Amino acid sequence: MIVLIGFMGSGKTVVGQALARRMNVPFADLDEAIARRAGRSITEIFDEEGEGAFRDLEKTMLEEALGGPSGVVSAGGGVVDEAANRIRLGREIVVFLDVSLEDALARIGDRTIRPMLRRVDPAALLARRRPRYESVADVTIDTDGRTIEEIVDEIAVRVGPGGSP
Ligand code: S3P
Repeated sequence: MIVLIGFMGSGKTVVGQALARRMNVPFADLDEAIARRAGRSITEIFDEEGEGAFRDLEKTMLEEALGGPSGVVSAGGGVVDEAANRIRLGREIVVFLDVSLEDALARIGDRTIRPMLRRVDPAALLARRRPRYESVADVTIDTDGRTIEEIVDEIAVRVGPGGSP
């Protein structure tokens, strides 16, 4: 499985969709799977049950997605905050889409649909998470100022046709 990780606004979902299309393999978005399973939006889960409940669901859905048909999975930005998830990701091909805070916030636009951005300082959050993304990544791709097409091209080259970096 190729798993895309990175901060909110790094482009994991759009890049994951485009990469899966290019490779002709299934695509799964973890946040979408979580919302579908919970029967409500990510924001509602955070507001009604708290971050802990969301993280538990995220762990379960990560396990399920990684057990599904081989393809591309886009994870949420906080997936690396759980040690169990970092260990689990060690068995997959992990691509870290790196982004500066400036580009991330510009791409996010409306921050209200990202509950974490209402809770913590985004600069501090990115600084805390970047080493965690790096620690589980097989490949790191700089996405600043680049198009989806350029990013997909680089992933395809660096991961290789057989899916091994
Ligand atoms: C989160 C990122 C979100 C989503 C949730 C929590 C985070 O996913 O999982 O709001 O903790 O960074 P994206 O990275 O796809 O926005």
